[in-house]
Amino acid sequence: MERELKKEIITGEKLAKEFKEHSVAEFFKKNRQMLGLYGKVRTLTTVVHEYITNSLDACEEARILPEIEVKIDELGPEYYQITVKDNGPGLTKETVGKALGKLLAGTKFHRLVQMRGQQGIGASGCTMLSQMTTGKAIKVISGTGKGKAFACEITIDPKRNEPKIENMRDLDRNFRGLMIQARFKGVLYRESVMGPLEYIRRTAIANPHAKITFRSPKGEKIVFNRTSTYIPKPPKAMKPHPAGVTVDDVVTMAHHTKAKKVSSFLKNDFERIGDTALEKIQKFVSFDLNKDPKKLTWSEAEQIVNAFRKIKFLAPSADGLRPIGEERIRKSLESIVQPEYVVTLTRQPKVYAGGYPFQVEIGIAYGGKAGISTNGNSKSQEDESGVKVEIMRFANRAPLLFDAGNCAITKAVHSIDWKRYGVRDLENTPLTIFVNFISVHVPYTGAGKQAIADEDEVMEELRLALMVCARKTARYISAKRAEIERRMKRDMFYKYIPEIAEALSKITKKDKEKIAKKLEWLVLTKLKLEKKEEKSSKELKVEGKDSKKVAKGEKIAGKSG
Ligand SMILES: Nc1ncnc2c1ncn2[C@@H]1O[C@H](COP(=O)(O)OP(=O)(O)O)[C@@H](O)[C@H]1O
Ligand SMILES: [Mg+2]
Repeated sequence: MERELKKEIITGEKLAKEFKEHSVAEFFKKNRQMLGLYGKVRTLTTVVHEYITNSLDACEEARILPEIEVKIDELGPEYYQITVKDNGPGLTKETVGKALGKLLAGTKFHRLVQMRGQQGIGASGCTMLSQMTTGKAIKVISGTGKGKAFACEITIDPKRNEPKIENMRDLDRNFRGLMIQARFKGVLYRESVMGPLEYIRRTAIANPHAKITFRSPKGEKIVFNRTSTYIPKPPKAMKPHPAGVTVDDVVTMAHHTKAKKVSSFLKNDFERIGDTALEKIQKFVSFDLNKDPKKLTWSEAEQIVNAFRKIKFLAPSADGLRPIGEERIRKSLESIVQPEYVVTLTRQPKVYAGGYPFQVEIGIAYGGKAGISTNGNSKSQEDESGVKVEIMRFANRAPLLFDAGNCAITKAVHSIDWKRYGVRDLENTPLTIFVNFISVHVPYTGAGKQAIADEDEVMEELRLALMVCARKTARYISAKRAEIERRMKRDMFYKYIPEIAEALSKITKKDKEKIAKKLEWLVLTKLKLEKKEEKSSKELKVEGKDSKKVAKGEKIAGKSG
């Protein structure tokens, strides 16, 4: 090695000949793991995730109640075809190429808005993966509902990161929505907690307004019906809060602003900066705030950011946050998880890192079909043994299936002393813990966007919210336990009643049956079971809800098997 190196002296000029530029498409082609497209099972789930989140985003913006159909076909070993169809606004012939065949292109770029997509690498990343692993284009059918729909095939030219559209043709029908069909090799379909079905199930729980139909490679059809017809209000783009920006942000924003003065730039383009704050900022900086923002230098921007750190601003407004809502989470969990008891909570918005509003929603479902059976699937048996706790994590309603150990939600759940809440062994309890973290800026731990960073304020809020729900669940669990104990005692006493009644009847010469009835009544009143016994000795009901609804969801959303 060393000798070889000595022989050829590498000069700057020689290296310059090697100098190349890469397009983002080429970059992601080599770094597909950055898009979450790695691991055979994970890749397939991520593809489903990208398409579904796009459909939900598009429907939400267009105020349409989403109806999404997902179909996965096995074409060969580790070779699958995914078809996703929605009833959203569709794409036009002009936009379809860039939307699905160009990386870092999209309508959601650089907006501080609570949406699922953001970077413009989701659907287009999938297009690239399809062509990388199968050499095939993705097939698209799109329609805006006005006039004829069209079909085409799309690939990406990785050298230029430009879409290549082929076979564009009008269809003889009207259709509103988007259908994408793509093939992938080197992927695997599994019905595990990290598989597409579980992803869809959780998406359905967190999006009660969506109807999602899934056809598995085995030919099973599973329908997750909507439990709400309320379309979440369109998310609002937020201005950055001064406490959350960097010098680079300020410089970039200053160079793009429409404002003519730095003062009006600060007032218009940031949240919570008024005249009083401006006066204070002026005192901290060495230049005149009437300056043209286009001419703002790096060091001046640095002075502004330092001033931001010294001034106390009102907390950012939480206008842009769109929680699901307690009642809707409850209905959703009742319909899809089918537990015996549910408690839900939507907390008030809080702020992390000084500048980003966030909100936490919790649902705890206990008993019934809550939890996961130890074979890895969601629970489908009545038997409580072999059932483990299920932690469902969501960021802005999108399920997080991977990197659980790194996530603030998992850490918060495990940091709680569950024994205090009557849960003796959290791992082996039929509990489904639902947590939705909402923010216009989710502090993900990495580019895979699967885990939330454990910022102090985030952890504290998660813990508080979990404890409130745990306390309510504890009351239910202890009431249930006490009742089970009383029933056991009742059964024990009942065993002796015939003998005692017989003996008493001999002594008193009274009717044996009547004595037995009286003794039974005595046992029930002593054990405080008489009222319940009158109603029915069946299980306790879902708190305040009729259990019919739960039973109805069973056929539809419950798992087959
Ligand atoms: N199902 C769909 N319906 C309408 N528009 C879509 C759909 N899927 C994707 N798009 C458009 O394509 C763009 C790029 O999508 P994507 O690559 O996933 O990036 P992102 O979702 O981060 O913007 C989106 O911003 C959106 O404008
Ligand atoms: Mg997307």
